[in-house]
Amino acid sequence: CPSNSQMEESFGLRSANCRAKGGSPGFKVAILGAAGGIGQPLAMLMKMNPLVSVLHLYDVVNAPGVTADISHMDTGAVVRGFLGQPQLESALTGMDLVIIPAGVPRKPGMTRDDLFNINAGIVRTLCEGIAKCCPRAVVNLISNPVNSTVPIAAEVFKKAGTYDPKRLLGVTMLDVVRANTFVAEVLGLDPREVDVPVVGGHAGVTILPLLSQVKPPSSFTPDEVEYLTNRIQNGGTEVVEAKAGAGSATLSMAYSAVKFADACLRGLRGDAGVVECAFVASEVTELPFFASKVRLGRNGAEEVFQLGPLNEYERVGLEKAKKELAASIQKGISFIRK
Ligand code: NAI
Repeated sequence: CPSNSQMEESFGLRSANCRAKGGSPGFKVAILGAAGGIGQPLAMLMKMNPLVSVLHLYDVVNAPGVTADISHMDTGAVVRGFLGQPQLESALTGMDLVIIPAGVPRKPGMTRDDLFNINAGIVRTLCEGIAKCCPRAVVNLISNPVNSTVPIAAEVFKKAGTYDPKRLLGVTMLDVVRANTFVAEVLGLDPREVDVPVVGGHAGVTILPLLSQVKPPSSFTPDEVEYLTNRIQNGGTEVVEAKAGAGSATLSMAYSAVKFADACLRGLRGDAGVVECAFVASEVTELPFFASKVRLGRNGAEEVFQLGPLNEYERVGLEKAKKELAASIQKGISFIRK
């Protein structure tokens, strides 16, 4: 974004130096797909995050406009825009965290898997850039189908010789956010007091809420379990249908992405006890990737937690989830290896 860099040449360095003296931990964060439905509110919320000192906004369209707009917010992060493939490397160089909401969203009647053909190629290109320009960055992958795009990213990084499984995280936070909200409604609690582990993956039956492990400890009738599980698994479709062709969840997703990115940054800073659910390389089941609670630290997902005790309903759900997940993971791997 030339106007940005010109301005930075004249004035920006002075303000960046001032900030450096302020001693903020100052993480550098890039958003790829920053002009999209998720990208824009995500960029706005990351500009408000005190852990971010530099925010790079990359897209193939409209990046200069979004950057100009966001850059007027009087918060600490310095914002720079990058438009189109020729500027991808500049957008990525030096980044600590890269968040990827690039790609097409669902329309009514589509599954996340229907997005595979377009989004797989986008994710491959962006991850090749990451391998080249910021191979140590933690990557938060939002582009759907997450169950396949995370394996794609892993294969790209393996090919480039930069793969660190701890640093690649598929974002399933929206499933947790929805689960907390819907469970709180049923229990008559404030959603901020509720914690629902959601494991498996990020599509349909692979989204497996563990209602037996809800905090605070709660019991549900079989009808409530059925209602909650269905609503959590189909929360995305609920929004796609309500938007009637205008896309999928963007605002609740941006909120969730920021909640997750903030947890990653607190981990990178060295905070203790930062635990969130994410879709990561895993030995929790026989599958190579699986979503479960992970402890976020200076190196990304430093510990992947076991699922804990499951009831019969959840054990049946787990078998269904694994079957579908296995196919989605294989599809992603084959896309790069073929
Ligand atoms: P959108 O279409 O509004 O925005 C996508 C943005 O990506 C656009 O600005 C577009 O120009 C950009 N883009 C396309 N190709 C690109 C490339 N090669 N490099 C950089 N940017 C590129 O879509 P929306 O609603 O923001 O959704 C984005 C993705 O997030 C979709 O794949 C959607 O399915 C997924 N999603 C994931 C969720 C999750 O829980 N992980 C929840 C909701 C959506």
